[in-house]
Amino acid sequence: MPWDGLLPERLDLARLDTPIVPLRRLSAQLGGPTVWVKRDDQTGAAESGNKIRKLQFTVAEALRDGADTLITCGGLQSNHARTTVVVARRMGLDVELVLRGEAPERLEGNLLLDAVLGAKVHLYDAEAYAHKDALMQQRAEALRSSGRHPFVVAEGCSMPSGSWGYIEAMREVTQWQRDHGVRFDAILSGVGSGGTAAGIELGARLHGFDGQRIGVPVCDDEAYFREKIGRLCAQTVRAYDLGVEVPPEEVGLLDGYVGGGYGVSREAERESLVLLARTEGIVLEPVYSGKAFHALVGEMSGRLRGMENVLFVHTGGVFGLAAYADQLPPLQRAT
Ligand SMILES: Cc1ncc(COP(=O)(O)O)c(C=O)c1O
Repeated sequence: MPWDGLLPERLDLARLDTPIVPLRRLSAQLGGPTVWVKRDDQTGAAESGNKIRKLQFTVAEALRDGADTLITCGGLQSNHARTTVVVARRMGLDVELVLRGEAPERLEGNLLLDAVLGAKVHLYDAEAYAHKDALMQQRAEALRSSGRHPFVVAEGCSMPSGSWGYIEAMREVTQWQRDHGVRFDAILSGVGSGGTAAGIELGARLHGFDGQRIGVPVCDDEAYFREKIGRLCAQTVRAYDLGVEVPPEEVGLLDGYVGGGYGVSREAERESLVLLARTEGIVLEPVYSGKAFHALVGEMSGRLRGMENVLFVHTGGVFGLAAYADQLPPLQRAT
């Protein structure tokens, strides 16, 4: 039977619907369409950002399976890993992380939160981490053989249950458009593991959003994500019988903003981040939302030209800023 419009079970852990607000000063300064922001950085406190939307569905599935431990993976400063740790603790679960990187001398940002929340961390170098799925499965096996019930959450929670996070966000967006009489010509967001973009593509189809979808890869490239997001959409459609199709060539992506590579921040990107902070009081981070926002600024005279209203999804991650302190503007001392 095709999808009946009902949501799968989800935990009630995020502050939703998130606000959509216009950035009037910034828009005047940039001189293009009115830029609006969906404040998914306000989905919670320590659990803020885009991942909590996905985890609400995936961890509901884990609990249904009788899980007592969550296992997931990411970079040392992974927002997804940190959010999973918070959700695990909120649900009374144990949590283990497979992380890429070396133990730093000083804990900061997301890793500091992982430590405070008591996640058990397994650290690997980049070469070993390339086998992250096998590493997580090995760890799950070890826990199972000691009588535990682990549940593995894919990197970025980009898995069919997680797709619901942004399917539901698109319901919020389309409802908001109807309530406020505003139509967004485009929705723009960062792409790291692809689950947010997959949910946006599926949600656009299921809820009738006809603006452009512009996913900005912050690593890899358009071809890689076209395949990955197309596959995740197909898996989600199959798992929940959604009755829509997302041909990979229709996944909305915009290449050209990976810059120096994943996690590498360039001066022009930081200038865009500082511009938003100082014109609107909204703080991004350099790895995801900062790069996506830099693309928005860069495309004012390109992809976004002639549009009236553009929606930027602030996917959160402000804890990641701490790791870039030495590249950000210094304190202005009053004279
Ligand atoms: C703050 C932030 N924004 C955006 C993304 C990208 O989302 P996705 O992994 O669903 O592509 C991530 C994670 O990868 C993130 O942590």
